[in-house]
Amino acid sequence: MIKITNLTKKFKDHIAVNALNLEIAQGEYVALLGVNGAGKTTLVEMIEGLQTPDSGNITIQGLNWKDHAQQLRQLLGLSLQETKFIDKLSVLETLQLFASFYRLTESRVQEVLDWINLRAKKATYTVNLSGGQRQRLALGVALLHQPQLLLLDEPTTGLDPNSRRELWELLLRLKKQYNMTLLLTTHYMEEAEQLCERIVIMDNGKIIADGTLSQLLSTYTQGEIIDFTVNEWILPEKWANITGVLQISPITKTPEGFAGSFLVENSTNFLPTFFQHLEQHQIKLLQLQARKKNLDDLFTTLTGKKLSAETSTL
Ligand SMILES: Nc1ncnc2c1ncn2[C@@H]1O[C@H](COP(=O)(O)OP(=O)(O)O)[C@@H](O)[C@H]1O
Ligand SMILES: [Mg+2]
Repeated sequence: MIKITNLTKKFKDHIAVNALNLEIAQGEYVALLGVNGAGKTTLVEMIEGLQTPDSGNITIQGLNWKDHAQQLRQLLGLSLQETKFIDKLSVLETLQLFASFYRLTESRVQEVLDWINLRAKKATYTVNLSGGQRQRLALGVALLHQPQLLLLDEPTTGLDPNSRRELWELLLRLKKQYNMTLLLTTHYMEEAEQLCERIVIMDNGKIIADGTLSQLLSTYTQGEIIDFTVNEWILPEKWANITGVLQISPITKTPEGFAGSFLVENSTNFLPTFFQHLEQHQIKLLQLQARKKNLDDLFTTLTGKKLSAETSTL
């Protein structure tokens, strides 16, 4: 659907997008994850035809902005990082205005109004909408002409968790009903995880990781951690031959018993073997906790930066 090769964009001597390559297939939901200044907006705006690359190529369904602008406008639905509406137009009037650009019918406007769940607000001036309602309206505007590809630049930044979830639900419904292709930028790890099967991590104008969440985690983080407490001390050698263990921490005496942890490839595979081993040696398990390394850990490992602090409060 989208094919980007060797794409570069500079602002004076700052390289915002740096020799970037990316392909997105029809029906994929892709999250472009990165901190402020990573180059997400610059990349997305070049795909949208709003900025011109210094070098490199972008094709969408084989079309490019230079030769096929008209067709691409039909294909794409977009909402920008800052959505501006006309303050003194109502929700309904705003949809009608945009529908007139595409010569769409009133019944399409009504359909979208219901779809974004804003019928109750149809007479409200856009200036009086809440953040979540504005973003739903922006999504409605983007969807009016039934595009095949949706590009959303930080659609939920600054929204409260409820409004954010409402928008996610709409986007998930789109995928199911219309097999839409979506590229969305975000600095919320949870958004990337919840919405998109594919996560592309961008830093300093480059893609530094690309894959499904589990692919990323298994490529870039080493396994999962199992913390345990048992009722008696065990020679470390006894554990050493359990399959799937990458590393064993020293066993320490605690008030509860004897605690240790394993680094394992996969806790689901490892735990049955672990339980069997305990039974064989008649050791009683007192406490057990399995922790997965998450995308947040991964992001920090890769970029040395933290994603927005807001992510941790969700
Ligand atoms: N119009 C512009 N003029 C100068 N520098 C810009 C312009 N747009 C973006 N930049 C710079 O390019 C880099 C990437 O910006 P941007 O694409 O907006 O990143 P993101 O969307 O990931 O926050 C930043 O360092 C930003 O300051
Ligand atoms: Mg941006």
